[in-house]
Amino acid sequence: MPSQRRPLVAGNWKMNFDHLEATYFVQKLVWLLRDAHFDFKRCEVALFPSFTSLRSVQVLVEADKLKITYGAQSVSVTTQGAFTGDVSADMIAHLGCSYVIVGHSERRKYHPEDDANIVDQVRAVLAAGMQPILCVGESFEERRQGIELDFAVGQVRDVTRDLNDEQAAKLIVAYEPVWAIGTGMVATPQSAQDAAKAIRDDLGATFGQGVADAVRILYGGSVTSKNAAEMIAEPDVDGFLIGGAALDAEELCTIARLALKTSARK
Ligand code: 13P
Repeated sequence: MPSQRRPLVAGNWKMNFDHLEATYFVQKLVWLLRDAHFDFKRCEVALFPSFTSLRSVQVLVEADKLKITYGAQSVSVTTQGAFTGDVSADMIAHLGCSYVIVGHSERRKYHPEDDANIVDQVRAVLAAGMQPILCVGESFEERRQGIELDFAVGQVRDVTRDLNDEQAAKLIVAYEPVWAIGTGMVATPQSAQDAAKAIRDDLGATFGQGVADAVRILYGGSVTSKNAAEMIAEPDVDGFLIGGAALDAEELCTIARLALKTSARK
């Protein structure tokens, strides 16, 4: 049976583009997609700008009723108060965001974001009516030891442990092996599929088949238009979380078109 999950092509801009560059990018991307008669009903395209650009993206999307979606790259675990520099889930939701990336390996590395903090971020995002994109994935060392599947499954399990079925069904998981991020060393389609399937099977064992079938599982790590089609042809890979290649509107448009075309055949 073909997958009911709508593929998601998500561009994580990380700390790139100010609000003027973001505005220009969105207009260019939408123009390219429109020119290609892109069918947003069959493939979702989402952007993850910096906090400082979210308002500009919202204004564009709402004014022109653009079909792209967008979200933030991180969130505070608290709702309000004396937390200098933090941004709450409600603030993000009020800017029309659908998603928040949670637990990206760069956040885990450069900020004190441990499993407990990531659990709280997931809860904050869900409570504000958005969907978390939970990033998991092994480092080179875990891969060398051959424990990459257990590691990624364990990271998902640690975060979903106390969620109910309804909350778990709202999750999106991004399998992003750390060694593949920004290195040009992309995982093979088979290893992305193995990880996505292991994560999906484990969600099924915990929350039931309905949740396992609903959760979209993305691959991230050196995705480009050269490897995207092969990757998304895999049955459990539902899209991408893209860094470097998402800073080029033409490249992102090409990846989105490949994702739509290839996943239509699954
Ligand atoms: P690259 O696509 O640049 O490898 O980055 C992947 C990533 O970290 C997306 O969140």
